[in-house]
Amino acid sequence: MDARRIVLGVTGGVAAYKAAELARLLVKAGIDTQVVCTEAARHFVGPATFQALTGHPVFSDLWDERVDSGMAHIDLGRGADLIVVAPASADFLAKLVQGVAADLLSTLCLARDCPLLVAPAMNRQMWEHPATQRNVALLRQDGVELLGPDQGEQACGEIGFGRMLEPEALLEAIEARFQPKRLAGLKVLVTAGPTFEAIDAVRGITNASSGRMGYAVARAALEAGAEVTLVTGPTCLTPPRAARVIPVTRCQDMLAAVESVVADVDIFIGVAAVADYYVLNPSEQKIKKDAHILTLELAPNPDILASVSSRPSPPFCVGFAAESENIEEYAELKRRRKHLPLIVANDVREAVGAEAVQLVLLDEAGRHVLPLADKRTQARRLIAHIAALYQATRP
Ligand code: C5P
Repeated sequence: MDARRIVLGVTGGVAAYKAAELARLLVKAGIDTQVVCTEAARHFVGPATFQALTGHPVFSDLWDERVDSGMAHIDLGRGADLIVVAPASADFLAKLVQGVAADLLSTLCLARDCPLLVAPAMNRQMWEHPATQRNVALLRQDGVELLGPDQGEQACGEIGFGRMLEPEALLEAIEARFQPKRLAGLKVLVTAGPTFEAIDAVRGITNASSGRMGYAVARAALEAGAEVTLVTGPTCLTPPRAARVIPVTRCQDMLAAVESVVADVDIFIGVAAVADYYVLNPSEQKIKKDAHILTLELAPNPDILASVSSRPSPPFCVGFAAESENIEEYAELKRRRKHLPLIVANDVREAVGAEAVQLVLLDEAGRHVLPLADKRTQARRLIAHIAALYQATRP
């Protein structure tokens, strides 16, 4: 992918400290980040912080002599793929609406030829004020993308809408802007994580699965422009903001959640590590320990993926096969048995909880190796492959 460049505008608000973390995440994601602060922002976070994080000097002044042409408002925006203002104060939103060019950042926003994303952050009453709501509606009409705000506890101690989205959520939205929209207009259903089948009030049978691969697949589908439902077993992960999330525990719940939406989806991707068995008659109370052998009766769980792929007009179905030996052979057998156009084979000994994995995609045309990479990259590659196969099946 070509080098990506953004201007990160920071305006005056307590959330400016989170902009430093956003700058760090952007740089880590390989995005060249030029910070432009308003004067007010400098009261909250010093330019030295942003300069150290981005490797670029920070600009605030229209008359900055460090820009050779003497036209910082033109030069800094030139070649930028995006301008992101985070946090965007109520005052700055009003300036954008009016087309005010009072300082470097507002002038850059006016003189831009790239998309503008703003992440509002302000006190709840400022956000709810009709003037701000009017401004937000006008900005949307002007094609500005609003990211958030979120609701929750605010710096002033009040609770309500106005919190800036967390830096990770902002990064997610920014990254999505750079991905090709291969699944635009399509509905994708993803299962992720393990299932947990209760033995008693505290114990259960589960699989070793962090949920990271499934969440990465859901994110990659969102980035590709799909509408995504994520049915997830218990994990410690934050789900992607833009997905519709249905949390479940048992396989039976996962099946019910999948069945409630599957009739309306174009693509189903079963990444979940579903427990093969559940415990008959789990105890409502914690079973007391004694010296005797404990016998559990296990009954087989339904196969969610197989039940979806055997529907009369199934969505495009993709399975995951986590194996510890004869990986591709077993995966291909599963693909045929479950009537899947595509299965993803991986080695459980390497994959569970790991940051980077190698995947092998098996479809009617044969095998395609996705060489070792982090799960986010693999998920994007997988989505590209799914999109190509899916388009080929369309008339
Ligand atoms: O047969 P196996 O469990 O190895 O198949 C793995 C694939 O089937 C995965 O895509 C998994 O999400 C799906 N699966 C399922 N329901 C089950 C078992 C597996 O959807 N009960």
